[in-house]
Amino acid sequence: MKGLGELRRAIEKRGIRMNRRLWITITGAILMSTLTAGGATAKSGSTKKSSFGKGPDGEQVDLYTLSNKNGVEAGISTYGGVVVSLKVPDRTGKVGDVVLGYDSVDGYVNDKSYFGAIIGRYGNRIGHAQFTLDGKAYTLAKNNGENTLHGGLKGFNKAVWAAKEIPAKDGQALELTYLSKDGEEGFPGNLSVRVVYTLTDSNELKIDYSATTDKETIVNLTNHSYFNLAGPGSGDILGHVLMIEADKFTPVDAGLIPTGELRDVSGTPFDFRKPTAIGARIDANDEQIKLGGGYDHNFVLRRKAGEAISLAARVVEAKTGRVLEVWTTEPGVQFYTGNFLDGSVHGKGGISYTKRSAFCLETQHFPDSPNQPKFPSTELKPGERYHTMTIYKFSTEK
Ligand code: GLA
Repeated sequence: MKGLGELRRAIEKRGIRMNRRLWITITGAILMSTLTAGGATAKSGSTKKSSFGKGPDGEQVDLYTLSNKNGVEAGISTYGGVVVSLKVPDRTGKVGDVVLGYDSVDGYVNDKSYFGAIIGRYGNRIGHAQFTLDGKAYTLAKNNGENTLHGGLKGFNKAVWAAKEIPAKDGQALELTYLSKDGEEGFPGNLSVRVVYTLTDSNELKIDYSATTDKETIVNLTNHSYFNLAGPGSGDILGHVLMIEADKFTPVDAGLIPTGELRDVSGTPFDFRKPTAIGARIDANDEQIKLGGGYDHNFVLRRKAGEAISLAARVVEAKTGRVLEVWTTEPGVQFYTGNFLDGSVHGKGGISYTKRSAFCLETQHFPDSPNQPKFPSTELKPGERYHTMTIYKFSTEK
């Protein structure tokens, strides 16, 4: 940079006579930017874009790495809008990955576990792959026995999303958009979907989901991250201690479709109102536990009056001291303990993903809502805007 005296002479030569206040403002601004560049003030966040490979039809797939001022990092792929990695500190400050996934896009193209993906048009199951809306019957793709799971044969997890970095007051934000065409997987209406991931400087991954339609439809979006707070490959998650803010859950039948009952959790293995190890009752002699092969159930979240976003769940991992809080505007959360993982899938760094080596907390409307008149509605009409928000917040405990 030129000397300050030289700079002043250059500016004055252009006919701008400077008063003292203007000069102080200019030199102050120069000083601030020099200090920031030199690292004398707090580190700020950044977003980097790199290639993640090619999609199944040769489409370019990108990986965006969002970092905050604390060195927390979130890797997001345009394929499936997947959270590929989430690196957060343990109690000693050591940053490590806490989600399962793959090293490249091919893993996600072949994936059947929905690791880290955006799920749509309908998160979880729709019984018999059908529903009626406004007197009209719709038939969906069947991809889970007789039922539709997570949007059908090609859900939003298999779409390449358009990505754009957008400004955020509280961190680094990435906007993903996708147009789900009228009739896709059997769903009515052109659904225009927008998901914004924000990595905040308070170590939160905030997910804003919104959608509009041109025909009456149903929509239920979520994210399917598999967490292991001790890190993928560190064994099972049975020792993680979980609290869920739910007095009730939705029992299921043999096809994991809710029966319609909202059952009290008291005296059942589903009572997580007090922090309890995930493994404490996971093999209990309980009909619902047996049907799920462990936990694979929707919990009915408590709502505090007047609170737009509420705490849904809190998980603590004792060895690392890592704590995950899940906050959401949604009425439910699917707690799934990776019962279908069987070690046959090899993920990041070649790690084999074994049974119950991760858990999911998928915030959502209840499964099969379109066929359950007593459940909160998942209908969306033209002119309305679907909007939900979920925050995964990380911290540590002694
Ligand atoms: C959800 C379902 C599970 C399973 C996983 C993905 O959590 O409820 O039954 O399908 O997704 O494997």
